[in-house]
Amino acid sequence: MAAADTNARTVADIMSHPVVTATADETVAVAANRMREQSVGSVVVVEGERAIGILTERDLVRLAAAGASSTDLVEKWMTRDPDSVAPDVEATAAFASIAEHGYRHIPVVDDARLVGIVSMRDLMRIAQIQPAAHLAQDIPRGLEGVVVAETAIGDVRGLEGFYHYRQYDAVELAETRTLEDVWFLLYHGDVPSAAERTEFMREVAPLRVIPPRVLAALPAITETAPDAPPLDQLRTTVSLLGATLGFQPSLDSSAADLREQGLQVCAVVPSLLCALYRLKHGLPVIDPDPDLPYAANYLKMMLGETPTPEHARAVEQYLISTIDHGFNASTFTARVITSTGADLAAAVVGAIGALSGPLHGGAPSRALGMLEDIGTSDKAEPWIRDAIERGDRLMGFGHRVYKTDDPRSVMLRSVAERLGGDNVEFAKQVEQKAIDLLAELKPGRKLYTNVEFYAGIVMDACGVPSEMFTPTFASSRVIGWTAHVLEQAADNRLIRPSAQYVGPPAPQPVPAAE
Ligand SMILES: CC(C)(COP(=O)(O)OP(=O)(O)OC[C@H]1O[C@@H](n2cnc3c(N)ncnc32)[C@H](O)[C@@H]1OP(=O)(O)O)[C@@H](O)C(=O)NCCC(=O)NCCS
Repeated sequence: MAAADTNARTVADIMSHPVVTATADETVAVAANRMREQSVGSVVVVEGERAIGILTERDLVRLAAAGASSTDLVEKWMTRDPDSVAPDVEATAAFASIAEHGYRHIPVVDDARLVGIVSMRDLMRIAQIQPAAHLAQDIPRGLEGVVVAETAIGDVRGLEGFYHYRQYDAVELAETRTLEDVWFLLYHGDVPSAAERTEFMREVAPLRVIPPRVLAALPAITETAPDAPPLDQLRTTVSLLGATLGFQPSLDSSAADLREQGLQVCAVVPSLLCALYRLKHGLPVIDPDPDLPYAANYLKMMLGETPTPEHARAVEQYLISTIDHGFNASTFTARVITSTGADLAAAVVGAIGALSGPLHGGAPSRALGMLEDIGTSDKAEPWIRDAIERGDRLMGFGHRVYKTDDPRSVMLRSVAERLGGDNVEFAKQVEQKAIDLLAELKPGRKLYTNVEFYAGIVMDACGVPSEMFTPTFASSRVIGWTAHVLEQAADNRLIRPSAQYVGPPAPQPVPAAE
């Protein structure tokens, strides 16, 4: 088809009609059935000929995640007064608007009358047959700001310095809730009642025990690669765990199976990390203590003693604050892998690999290392100035999304102050100097402290050795990754983007082999 034809196409040319509809007083179950029968991703909610709302597969996922009843009425879950498009609008303009808003379906309305519906998929089909030059708009390097999926798990608002898990402020959760409560929130859509909490703790506590065949294999891993970073050893171990427990491709697994596997992996990762750490140092492995909550148990398995409540709570707050954080590189990796239908362990292994990079999770030990290198506050100014002028990155500063204070660093600074110690005062002085010098030498880049700067200080104050900083980050982020795996699997489509080819023009004749 010629490009000119494509460009001239209007919404009326590509829309589907008649539209699959529902009424506000029908139950969600009836509407969902209709969607399934008609193989559509949404129903438009009508009053006579007027579109008053839209109910999509995404709403059904939300509803299921919230544990709501399918006898709820459509009006409770639909999006009211949805944006619509007129039939004579050019398809390309509709594409731009729908993509900008992140919609998947948009009703076509002519003079207040519902006449059709277009889906993102219809519009993508049109877009794909356009000339490449048209498609190759500015692709932001590193996909900055590009929306690649929908999620109900959480979001980061970089300009406001705010992030949330589901419907709650993540920092408030870290200040008021336990890790298990937040884990439950990510998996089930809301914080638990007292009875749900008891049941959840009862469910996950036994899952902390390392399966015997995996435990038996750990010494071989630490002996074969004794100098490998703990995250590399964990990557291997999680792979083994998935294979040992017989995880099936997510494509062939029910939501209940995936949930169980997710809980199993999240519960056992801290045990694996601590066992690997202790074996590496020739120390006996410590069994999980079912009577201790998550963070206290983690510190005990690592350090061999039940921690003080202050240390357990400080580490717990750090762990809660790092459970999830928008579409960061490791979360995206986990979702891409799940989108292929691969098993949950494969997604976690890939995510661990992504997290191990210094630009993502590998910074806290480096941030503490920087403080050690600087040594005393009078050396901060020349040290930092030199580093920036050399083109080095200050570890624990800068963020892809936050262009103001990272709320996690603000919270962790106060946790560090609560724990006290000389290091904290020194860190605060270095932080201020670094922010001032980054503003002077990198003007306009809006570089502030990120989560990693105080993470190292807090963990160090609680006795966590620096080689365990990034692994500790992984031990909580695995909860976020697996929540994303469950969400991706529940409404999956293969993630398979395109790249803009910039090599020599093709095809050229293949030279004869010499
Ligand atoms: C997190 C990070 C990778 C985000 O990077 P990004 O969004 O891709 O930003 P860019 O790499 O495009 O950097 C933009 C500019 O700010 C500078 N910059 C960013 N972070 C910097 C840092 N920590 N120290 C010094 N300069 C920094 C870059 O040099 C670049 O300057 P330029 O315009 O002169 O080239 C980056 O800030 C960084 O490397 N930080 C240090 C590592 C770290 O703390 N990681 C943990 C993240 S939670």
